[in-house]
Amino acid sequence: MSEYEPKELSKATTIPSSWYLDPAFLDREREKIFRRSWQWIGRAEDVSRPGDYFAASLLDEPIVVARDHDSRLRGLSNVCRHRAALIAEGKGNGKLLQCPYHGWTYGLDGRLRRAPEMEGVEDFEIDDVCLPGVRVEAWGPMVLGSLEASGPSFRETAPEIAFEVERAGFPIEKMKFRERREYVVEANWKIYVDNYLEGYHIPMIHPALYRELDYEKYRVEAFRNHATQYAPLRPSSDEDRTYPKREEDEKALYYWVFPNLMLNFYPGNLQANAVIPLDHERTLTVFEWFALDGEDIEAPSPSAIRCRSRTSRSETRCRRVCARTLTIEDDSRCGGRTECTSSMVCFTSI
Ligand code: FES
Ligand SMILES: [Fe+2]
Repeated sequence: MSEYEPKELSKATTIPSSWYLDPAFLDREREKIFRRSWQWIGRAEDVSRPGDYFAASLLDEPIVVARDHDSRLRGLSNVCRHRAALIAEGKGNGKLLQCPYHGWTYGLDGRLRRAPEMEGVEDFEIDDVCLPGVRVEAWGPMVLGSLEASGPSFRETAPEIAFEVERAGFPIEKMKFRERREYVVEANWKIYVDNYLEGYHIPMIHPALYRELDYEKYRVEAFRNHATQYAPLRPSSDEDRTYPKREEDEKALYYWVFPNLMLNFYPGNLQANAVIPLDHERTLTVFEWFALDGEDIEAPSPSAIRCRSRTSRSETRCRRVCARTLTIEDDSRCGGRTECTSSMVCFTSI
């Protein structure tokens, strides 16, 4: 970390290439960034009724999210306290969770209720055994989890988002899951985030969008734990626009939430995008769409489109080139427009 000194935006440079290339750096990021952050792990509709549960992965930790019979949302380790088998798979509804290996059975509060043939075992008290808890939180149609034992809730990490979404009147609590897509990008996860957070590449990579976007007004604003994007379209009467100007686009809200979640809100739907490092040079990107009943999920706003499949080939190629360039030009750094460096506000202030 000492290789880089944050400066004011007009003097900012890109972060050192070793931060992208060194596999050990990702280990540090997992420890210092990801384990301390909120991660999107599932859907609220899968735990809407008492007894509902789903198995999930929280930064490679197997967990189970359950709605207990007091309607409280709980996150539990999904690893059996006996011999570490996975307890729950997929999703379901029930009063208890039973380990498929030897049948130890847990309540939705994590407490062990039954352990076959363990009667009379010395120093074994069924009441002493409990699945460790994990912090989970439902927000709109999403469930998020954190491995930090304490600290701010997801909402508290970027309170402006909940406030602005509520003020805009987006009924996110009523949105239901519609579609999921996954892509593996051959680049460090930060290259994906860097790309998402700057409009600097729009003239070169998205010429059609550039023609229709009011580029001079495009801006990214960085806050402590999130960034917002403003990408207005030019007024035009042209029916054949690639990106038709719609009232919805004016109301849309685009957020990046530190470190790896993008949320694009429209009046009737939400597109969520998580960026998950597989290793230091491969990244899983997960897209899910949520919408109100009867709403079309396709809300083709410029910012959302920029990360969708129609542009992904050229962007993926550029990210690969980026990755190679970083390898070659190990010591070089380029100064950038202020937009380029906005994502670094969060990285460098940790
Ligand atoms: S590992 Fe779960 S009951 Fe044995
Ligand atoms: Fe793009």
